[in-house]
Parts: sequence; structure tokens; C-alpha cells
Amino acid sequence: MTSEPLVLGIETSCDETGIGIVRGSTLLADAVASSVEEHARFGGVVPEVASRAHLEAMLPTLERALATAEVRLGDIDAIAVTAGPGLTGALLVGVGAAKSLALGLGIPIFGVNHLAAHVAVDQLEHGPLPEPTLALLVSGGHSSLLQVSDITGDIEALGATIDDAAGEAFDKVARLLGLPFPGGPYIDLSAKSGDASAIAFPRGLTSSQDMQRHRYDVSFSGLKTAVARWVEARTAAGETISIPDVAASFQEAVVDVLMRKAILACKERGVDHLVIGGGVAANSRLREVADQRCAAAGIRLRIPRPGLCTDNGAMVAALGSECMSRGRPGVDLGFGADSSLPITEVLVTSA
Ligand code: KG4
Ligand code: ZN
Repeated sequence: MTSEPLVLGIETSCDETGIGIVRGSTLLADAVASSVEEHARFGGVVPEVASRAHLEAMLPTLERALATAEVRLGDIDAIAVTAGPGLTGALLVGVGAAKSLALGLGIPIFGVNHLAAHVAVDQLEHGPLPEPTLALLVSGGHSSLLQVSDITGDIEALGATIDDAAGEAFDKVARLLGLPFPGGPYIDLSAKSGDASAIAFPRGLTSSQDMQRHRYDVSFSGLKTAVARWVEARTAAGETISIPDVAASFQEAVVDVLMRKAILACKERGVDHLVIGGGVAANSRLREVADQRCAAAGIRLRIPRPGLCTDNGAMVAALGSECMSRGRPGVDLGFGADSSLPITEVLVTSA
């Protein structure tokens, strides 16, 4: 028997209902129910549809997680829930469920930042995060470069996307190539049989002028437009397009810029650990290039396994568990959900 606390994590910021259970830093269950198929025909997540799906999936997913972890609800010592950023209606379902559980069970609750949870999850796989650590967070809604000095309370935003998030760019380019939603995994797969040097797509915000104003920021909207123009021009000329070549060249441009900026930040900040998280961290080429470039720069790279990169409850439980082990007090039940919660607010406070 261990005396480490048993923490339940609830994630409903987008289209995945995730319930994770951890004891200390040991992952016991990670149940996820996705509504992605319900959104596919719209080519993007429909907030109302996502909220309803969370409501329907919440209890079955909770039961599944408890059964997998072989624990009862009464055994849980604390609850953590994503309080933002994300889709408001979707967040409210998770926050409502978490508050009911905390009230019924009489246990502490933490309202946590989704982005910090994407970083914290790596502790379940690779042990305690050295402090400070640099984190590259790349998902459907966010692309941020963060300096993490305390995963439960001190995170500095060094840079972010100034337009589309990396995952959003993957999804939009996939759409214009006729690939299904969400496009990231399909581009990843298609690119495996393509030539990444076939088309020289632009690397946003890397000119010397941009490096002064937007040193650690990224931009993918110009890249998306460049891909669209390239495809349009070839189609108008009656040429056959190699989708794998376009996918590979586009992917290379995204990965190249992300890794250039992440490694630059590590060097300039004197930080020798980099964690990559968020759905795009599941990308096989990003993982490969990150491995090569971090090894060359003497940076220790940590990336959770792909299943823990996309949205899940385990990451929220991992952050809650870290709060417990640092003796952080839970929050009063009066807290709300904040769709644009800044990364500087790792834990929400009551209104
Ligand atoms: O973190 P996540 O599950 O949800 C958000 O918080 O947004 O990230 C979802 C995003 C989607 O845009 C999806 O296309 C992208 O992650 N993604 C990928 C891959 N797997 C998921 N992008 C590139 N390559 C992948 N293998
Ligand atoms: Zn996410």
C-alpha cells in the first residue's frame, strides 16, 4: 500500500471527454471518449455538439476509468479539472461534473490550466520535470513556447502563434488536400510517402526583421495560404498534384520553424531540457526532427507517447497530483470556466 494521494482528472476543453486517475505519479487509468466523428462532416469542432457529447460521455467514461484503475469513487482523494482555455460550453460540463464530485465526496478540487496539463503529463512517463524546463505546446487551439519554473504556478509565455495554431494549420491544409478531419494524423501518414524537399514552402517569422519582433512567436497562416496558392496554380494548369509531396513539404515547414524557435529559446535562456506536448507532438516527423536537433544542441528532449499528447484526463490528473504533492490548497467551489485562461494562471482561483 502506498500513501500517495489518488487524484481524478477531468478534461472537456474540446472534443475529448477524458477521465484520468493517477496515484502520485503512477498512471492507473486514462479513459477517453471522443466526439470527433460527429464533427468530421463539418470540417471542425462544433461547440454545441461537443458540449452535448461531453454530457452523454461523462458518466460512462468515469465508470470506465474507475473500473480500469480498480478503485471506487470513495477512494479518490482530490479532483482536478480543466478550467480553461477551451470551448466555454464544453469546459462547463467538466467543471460542473468535477464540482459535484468534489462536493459529494468532500474532497479538494483544483481548476487547472489545460496547457500546463499538457506539460505536466510528461511526468507520468519520464519522471519529475527539471526546473526550469522549456515547453513547446502545439495543439489544435494553441502553439506556445513556455518557460516552466514551477508547473503548478510559475510559467512564463515566451512566444505563441500570432495567427493559426500548428494543429489548425494541419487541419486546414488537410482539408484543402481533400484529407479527412482532423487532418494532422492524415498529413503525417501521407507525408511518409512524399518528398519533403519537393516544394520550398515559406518558414514564417524567420526573417531577420521578424526575429527581432517575433523572436519566439510562430505564424502558420501565410504557410497555409502558400499551400493553397500552390495547389490552385497546379490545378488550374491541369497538372496532377502529388498529395504526399505537398503534405511532406508543408509538414517540413511547420516542423522546421517550431524546432528552430524552440532550440533558440533553450540556448538563449540557458535551459537544457525541452518538453513537447499537445496533439501535434504526436507528429512522427516533429518527433524525429526534435530528436536529431536536440541531440545536436545538447538538449534533453522529453515527449510523452502519442496517446498522452492529444487531449486526455491523465494530464489533468497529473497536474492535480503535482499540486497535492506540493501541498497546494484546493480552490473554493465558486470558481468558473475561462475560455481564454492565460498560461500565467496555472491554477484558477474563486471569483
Ligand atoms: O491537443 P489536442 O488533442 O487538442 C487541442 O487542445 O487542440 O490537439 C489536436 C490537434 C489537431 O489539430 C490534430 O490535427 C493535431 O492535434 N494532431 C496532429 C497529429 N495528431 C493530432 N498533427 C500533426 N500530426 C499528428 N500526428
Ligand atoms: Zn489540448
